[in-house]
Amino acid sequence: MQIPRLHPDTIEEIKQRADIVDVVSEHVLLRKRGKDFVGLCPFHDEKSPSFTVSQTKQMYYCFGCQAGGNAIKFLMDLGKRSFAEVVLDLARRYQVSVQTLEPEQRQELQRQLSLREQLYEVLASTAQFYQHALRQSQGQKASHYLRSNRRLKEETIQQFGLGYAPTGWETLYRYLVEDRHYPVQLVEKAGLIKSRKEGGGYYDVFRDRLMIPIRDVQGRVIGFGGRTLTDEQPKYLNSPETELFSKGKTLFALDLAKTGISQLDRAIVVEGYFDAIALHAAGITNAVASLGTALSLEQVRLVLRYTESKQLILNFDADKAGTNAAERAIGEIADLAYKGEVQLKILNLPNGKDADEYLHTHTPEDYGELLANAPLWLDWQIQQIIKDRDLRQATDFQQVTQQLVKLLKNITNSDTRNYYVSYCAEILSLGDSRLIPLRVENLLTQIAPTAAISIKPLPGRREWNGGRRSQSRQFAQRGEPPHATGSSIPTSDGFANAKGDRGLLDLAEALLLRIYLHCPEQRQVIMATLDERDLEFSLSHHRYLWRQILESTGEQVDLISSLQDRYLELSEEIDFVSHLFHLNEKSKKEILRTPQVIQAAIACMERVLREKRYRHFLELWQETDPDVEPERWQSYYQAFYAEKLRLQELDRQRQFSIIDLL
Ligand code: UTP
Ligand code: MN
Repeated sequence: MQIPRLHPDTIEEIKQRADIVDVVSEHVLLRKRGKDFVGLCPFHDEKSPSFTVSQTKQMYYCFGCQAGGNAIKFLMDLGKRSFAEVVLDLARRYQVSVQTLEPEQRQELQRQLSLREQLYEVLASTAQFYQHALRQSQGQKASHYLRSNRRLKEETIQQFGLGYAPTGWETLYRYLVEDRHYPVQLVEKAGLIKSRKEGGGYYDVFRDRLMIPIRDVQGRVIGFGGRTLTDEQPKYLNSPETELFSKGKTLFALDLAKTGISQLDRAIVVEGYFDAIALHAAGITNAVASLGTALSLEQVRLVLRYTESKQLILNFDADKAGTNAAERAIGEIADLAYKGEVQLKILNLPNGKDADEYLHTHTPEDYGELLANAPLWLDWQIQQIIKDRDLRQATDFQQVTQQLVKLLKNITNSDTRNYYVSYCAEILSLGDSRLIPLRVENLLTQIAPTAAISIKPLPGRREWNGGRRSQSRQFAQRGEPPHATGSSIPTSDGFANAKGDRGLLDLAEALLLRIYLHCPEQRQVIMATLDERDLEFSLSHHRYLWRQILESTGEQVDLISSLQDRYLELSEEIDFVSHLFHLNEKSKKEILRTPQVIQAAIACMERVLREKRYRHFLELWQETDPDVEPERWQSYYQAFYAEKLRLQELDRQRQFSIIDLL
């Protein structure tokens, strides 16, 4: 193909519009560090992030392999694509109109640009064709199956655009090629027909199947899954890999789930199409399906873009979830979980049911409750290890210890590892608290025979008592990461490296609450500022405490003791916030510098809110056609740009104040 020479203005405009952080974060999980972003380098194998993206310079650079450049270079290197290809792609995405140097090249360019557009069109027509067929007499069987076997309402059938591929070898072929005059090659490229091995001609890929359109994030059909209505194999036939569709890079129903995911700040990943459909039909709108394969990094990144707290709940079939099978399903994201970059939880439904089956006999609230109690992946693994074991038997004890050690070795975040060492030691002590120090010692030696690691008891726990073991499990199940909050404030260095945004937020909120509790003269300011900026606490136990504070307005004089009285009745919740009621040397010093701390902490909280709004408007802007609705397009642009400026301002405030203080 002849490469069109693009007008320099076009290239310039694309560079202006395509923000490097935006572009890179579609492919690399980035976290904010200082004024830059860091992540694992996609150009070489690495365990700790040395890949840096600077928003101000609009450049990336890897300290490990020295790869570097701007957004265009990044996409060229990553996808092994030409300059022109990348630029044209970006032009479409960021709605930049393309000018070429030679006018006669425009036609060729238009042709290239439109191949993908044409594929979208054929697939959309096909989806309509299938939807129509479902409502004809030929589709009765499929329609009946959806309504009675799957118990779906018309509303859900429409929402997911479900359809039926008629029997016969050339039904779709005739419709698309003969009636609608789409070029045969185009329909073939869309993965809808195949050429016959002998005798020439083409035949339909999907015949006599219930059709489920697979859509991209923007809701455009990119492929199909077709379920048999008989015993035919395979049960599901999926579109082949095409220019538009790649199984490992797609999550089913993400187009419908993305709003729910950002609102609830967590995503549920199930295995099957119908599990996702059933969840949405039940009003659980933050669910996507992985299409039956191991979760790939790409799929995880796709979904994590919509959650601030990076929380993923895997609801995979329990019968397949022997530890090995689970590891396989978790696939490449295990690493991210051990590093604490995703908060991974596992939900196994009772009796090995999948979500769809479960919802046939249970209410959405039942499901929600199981979801809320889903253990963190690490806790789940520990449960699997000790399940059906008798630790009083020497062999079981030894095997369990070995497996626990193996697990603990994987945890790279040291706070988290220390927490789990204590937890495992407690399990291995079988309720005899005198044994715990010995068990801790023992585990530590096995994990790192040479390095001496010091370990402190868990925060908020006053006793090592086997009878209270369930407490640590609750702690984990509630989904609060076992960061050592409270008394241990990290140093500025460890802070930037290990804590990340959620840790920062946790810290900021805790500081603010501590100041509120201990410095009555600051209460007015805090209350007013939160009110004025319309901010809320993000972490549930902080929100909980704040509610208690608001409710005890009559007793502001001795707030702490009245709260403590109140908490006596609510013994579970107090463990998460009780450290805020006490001041040690370090926290005393912190709250001396209150004005800055309040500023910084509130900036932190506001950032979370702004970031969400920024993403929201950016997306609306991307989805709006400037030719059709120029005013709306303009106003979205202004809205997301304003959020972005505010974010930058907040980062400045947040940075020098918090980091300076600690
Ligand atoms: P499952 O076999 O676990 O079935 O496949 P399911 O989703 O519960 O199917 P139903 O309820 O009997 O309809 C899980 C997912 O794996 C993929 C599909 O995406 C399916 O939803 N799969 C499964 C295939 O792609 N091909 C197959 O042959 C089977
Ligand atoms: Mn099923």
